[in-house]
Amino acid sequence: MAEYALEMREITKVYGADKYLANNRVSLNLRKGEILCLAGENGAGKTTLMKILYGLTSPTGGTILIGGKPAVIGSPRIANTLGIGMVHQHFMLFPEFTVTQNVVMGIEPVTWGIVYDFRKAKAMVSDLIKTHNFSIKADAPAGSLTVGQMQQVEILKMLYRNAQILILDEPTAVLTEQETAGLFRTLKTLAAAGASLILITHKLAEIKEISDRVAVMRQGELIGIKETKDVDEYDIFRMMIGRELDVRDKPKKSKYEPCKPALTFEQVVVKHPGQDQPLLNKVSFTAYQGEILGFAGVGGNGLEVLEAVLGGLVPVTSGRILCGDEDISGLDARGLRRRGLAYVPADRLGLGSALAASIPENIMVGRRNEFVRGGFLDLKAVSRFSRILFERYGIAGNKGLQIQALSGGNIQKVILAREIDLFRDYIVFSEPTWGLDVAAGQYVYDQMISLREKGAAVILISSNLDEILANADRVLVFYRGAIAAEVQDIQPTVQMKEQIGAYMLGLGKE
Ligand SMILES: Nc1ncnc2c1ncn2[C@@H]1O[C@H](COP(=O)(O)OP(=O)(O)OP(=O)(O)O)[C@@H](O)[C@H]1O
Ligand SMILES: [Mg+2]
Repeated sequence: MAEYALEMREITKVYGADKYLANNRVSLNLRKGEILCLAGENGAGKTTLMKILYGLTSPTGGTILIGGKPAVIGSPRIANTLGIGMVHQHFMLFPEFTVTQNVVMGIEPVTWGIVYDFRKAKAMVSDLIKTHNFSIKADAPAGSLTVGQMQQVEILKMLYRNAQILILDEPTAVLTEQETAGLFRTLKTLAAAGASLILITHKLAEIKEISDRVAVMRQGELIGIKETKDVDEYDIFRMMIGRELDVRDKPKKSKYEPCKPALTFEQVVVKHPGQDQPLLNKVSFTAYQGEILGFAGVGGNGLEVLEAVLGGLVPVTSGRILCGDEDISGLDARGLRRRGLAYVPADRLGLGSALAASIPENIMVGRRNEFVRGGFLDLKAVSRFSRILFERYGIAGNKGLQIQALSGGNIQKVILAREIDLFRDYIVFSEPTWGLDVAAGQYVYDQMISLREKGAAVILISSNLDEILANADRVLVFYRGAIAAEVQDIQPTVQMKEQIGAYMLGLGKE
């Protein structure tokens, strides 16, 4: 019996013509039945290493042993037959297919050796759902599921294929606290049953909570592997960034006395035709210049709709939206951008970026005119501008590439950089730190504060209450599509967290 479920020896990966060294002689073992967390800053090479293990990209050098035997993993299909499964950083479901169809795709159960046995597939998937206490239905279309539920489908895909080595790339980046707790219960059960898990995460507290060991990567190299019980969060952070932690002062409250209204909602209603319950119900508020206005709420209570309205993706049914004195209610996404809206959407891959386009093209969205000289696009000016943004925001990667060749966190930095630079009157951040490492997340917070000090109205929509408490000056709580409460003078205290948490659940009143 082999001692390890998996051994990766001296794995090296060089990308592309410019020979980018994404993995440099990485050696990593995985014990049977353990949960190993893989950590490291954005662009450290974590996803690359896992893609090699899952057969999505081939290593330039090194060997892999599965259960003690050398393996060449040329495709995800081969990975599956070797008992390896992966849940990607960005889900890969077909929205118009049902949960069952998505789960069994590629290895559908058959009768008489040829006919797709629809009933059997559904029964098998339903059984798995029941065993793991998941909250989904086997015949629901994948497109109708919440993010947490889509992830359950991805996990079912691995379990259906009998995976013994499970890889999860930042599974908690987009989950609420409750969803994360549910996921961790599932993962612990799987490990107890003998599966071996590798989990990529940026959240240090999660590493302590879930893992047996933690492996840290930095700039393509494996810096170390530790027993989790022997290290604390600061030790892990230090390994990640290779230096001591800066001790920061808490951000000071705005020196700018909020006075001028930047953005006003007047009795805004959003309603689907044919539905009784409005999605936004008479929402009125004003965001002032020089403040960070936080929006808190449990998923499904209107924040997603608010974000879509702010971004010009969903029209208002009634009511008005004013920017200064100007009525902007009728503007779509394009019109709003022309009007100076800066917007960092939660769905950065779908809404925020054009994946197949190059990084300079992505950076130019909304400002192409600034780069046209005498009727032609001034490519030198574009590349000069991308270089400035890359330096200023510490984006790692090749500037000429398609944006999808960047690491997950670096894609987000490109969008953030573009939007922060574009800002005029107000700027909307939705889940701004999803997928960012600790240092990059802190950088975003610093940016929000400095925008506020310059007199911007900063709108912060976040499902992470700690993030809101640490940054917002004032908080509006959404419940069932309406503003349930307003809390002023925000302090990051336990009492305030509990108070806002109660409003989010519809408890207590102003
Ligand atoms: N297809 C590709 N072509 C060229 N370079 C790539 C490609 N994929 C990744 N890279 C580069 O390799 C480096 C490592 O990327 P990787 O996605 O492994 O990082 P990561 O540790 O997962 O980061 P994050 O936490 O941001 O997801 C990055 O600098 C990235 O730009
Ligand atoms: Mg990654």
